[in-house]
Amino acid sequence: MGSKHFPRQRRALMLAGLGAAAAATAATSVRIWPWTGAKPYPEGDPLPVDLSALPEGQLLTLSWQDKPVWVLRRSAADLATLPQHEGELTDAQSKESVQPAACCNAHRALKPEIFVAVGLCTHQGCTPYLNPGKGFICPCHGSRYDLAGRVFDEGPAPANLLIPAYRFASAQQLIIGELA
Ligand code: FES
Repeated sequence: MGSKHFPRQRRALMLAGLGAAAAATAATSVRIWPWTGAKPYPEGDPLPVDLSALPEGQLLTLSWQDKPVWVLRRSAADLATLPQHEGELTDAQSKESVQPAACCNAHRALKPEIFVAVGLCTHQGCTPYLNPGKGFICPCHGSRYDLAGRVFDEGPAPANLLIPAYRFASAQQLIIGELA
């Protein structure tokens, strides 16, 4: 049975549980890039996400529109790293990167502590892994991203990680796929 036939929440739980395995196999899991849709950022197919049990520093990986979408609860220390390396980034202000307008800010997020992004490297679409407290590393060709998904200019990835449409239905419930 293919993944499209699993109930959405079950697929989300499966992907969350398989996060470590996905990182280990990322070098062989090249995916389609760029995103193809009517808008520059992906939207639609709303996916509710309960944040109440998500601790700081843990990366939740969901399956949405057949792609990995990350939710990371950033700590105050995580957020404090963001201004420290802006001179090393390709697009520190996210002017050339893809995100909803409401996320075009220093944290690339609606709320600073909650980071949401499509977990596909903007080079050739591999799945980066979390380097806790520092950012994300793509195992395919070494591109690095900070904890706001902004790409360091040392690697081949040309743009920041893509941010999908999302909104908060309540303080602890996120809806991926719908704008605020
Ligand atoms: Fe990520 Fe090449 S696919 S660096």
